[in-house]
Amino acid sequence: MNDFDEVIDRKNGNAEKYTLRKQLFGTEDVLPMWVADMDIKTPSFVTEAVTKRAKEPIYGYEEMPESAYEAQMAWMKELHGLNTEREWMSYSPSVVATINLAIQAFTKPGEKVIYQPPVYAPFFKSITNNEREMVSNPLKRDEKGDYCFDFDDLRSKIDKDTKLLLLCSPHNPVGRVWREEELRELAAICLEHDIKVLSDEIHSDLVYRPHRHIPFASLSDDVRDITVTAIGPGKTFNVAGLSISTVVIADETMRQQFETLSQRIHFAEGTVFGHVGFEAAYRHGESWRDELMVYLSTNLQKLEVLVRKYGDRLSMSKPEGTYLAWIDCSKMGLDEKALRSFFVEKAGLGLSPGIVFGREGKGYMRLNFAVPIATMDRALLQLDAALDDL
Ligand SMILES: Cc1ncc(COP(=O)(O)O)c(C=O)c1O
Repeated sequence: MNDFDEVIDRKNGNAEKYTLRKQLFGTEDVLPMWVADMDIKTPSFVTEAVTKRAKEPIYGYEEMPESAYEAQMAWMKELHGLNTEREWMSYSPSVVATINLAIQAFTKPGEKVIYQPPVYAPFFKSITNNEREMVSNPLKRDEKGDYCFDFDDLRSKIDKDTKLLLLCSPHNPVGRVWREEELRELAAICLEHDIKVLSDEIHSDLVYRPHRHIPFASLSDDVRDITVTAIGPGKTFNVAGLSISTVVIADETMRQQFETLSQRIHFAEGTVFGHVGFEAAYRHGESWRDELMVYLSTNLQKLEVLVRKYGDRLSMSKPEGTYLAWIDCSKMGLDEKALRSFFVEKAGLGLSPGIVFGREGKGYMRLNFAVPIATMDRALLQLDAALDDL
């Protein structure tokens, strides 16, 4: 048994995935496969670093150590071929905080921000919460049925008030890892219309071979200079609870605009545990991540087998990245309420209804398969029985 196999009982702790079951699903009797953290153990090189720090007698103010930034820069260079300079980087408590602050820094109330649904809900919520105008540029399907950008729609919606595009790369929930030519076309449109880009790359380490994550800022110097990259170890190493991420902004003016706001609300420097966990993750995480990807692929293959078995009711484009499966359930012919109750009451599974990612997600369910194989097997057995029964 390796560490990934160990089933951790999170029920009696404070894990959101479990504590919110009653509120979200009306019952605690569901296997929760919704919020995007893993039921797989945080790697021991991270927990050991945090434990070691916890044993030190003082938890006073500390700055994010230079060595932590260096570890992340080396990681990004090695894995994604991205060259980043230290002065471009700063701490953020969360990627969602970065998205909100980027909206405030680079747009004014009433100006337009583009998002590409179906997409992680804080993308559109942060636009309205900041009283900016939402411009929806939904993903479309190509001839093979795969999600892709809709450039014609995008061009038709841009006007002089359009200032920022929120890019999700890799994309949650549809699992696309954008190809270089797709990103280049998107970048060309943004450059042409003077639109800045917030590139949320939190899932960038979770990419299945042969796909490769292309950092948006790596496309060219011009593209880099309109980009804010939000990145962090939260997804890859299951450390969302450490509240630590990084913002990378190469352009000096943009960086100053962002930093003025982050200082005004006092983003500060994070926690003593976050610092050491972050550094340990990026310094020692390479082979662990490689093994994780193989492990996640096994779960994904099992899910694909089941989806194929019930091909008259379910379908799914194989995710190229993330540990999130975007399952099209529209052929089941159930309305939203009936679909939810099928998964909760018949299958005993707590998934994210597609509709929470925008109306384009109607008829879909998102399943988080970052679980030990025993948990995955249990989930699939439950779903198989429920579908068989239907
Ligand atoms: C695309 C995306 N961005 C951001 C987040 C959350 O990041 P953070 O916890 O750092 O705010 C998630 C979590 O699911 C996500 O999927």
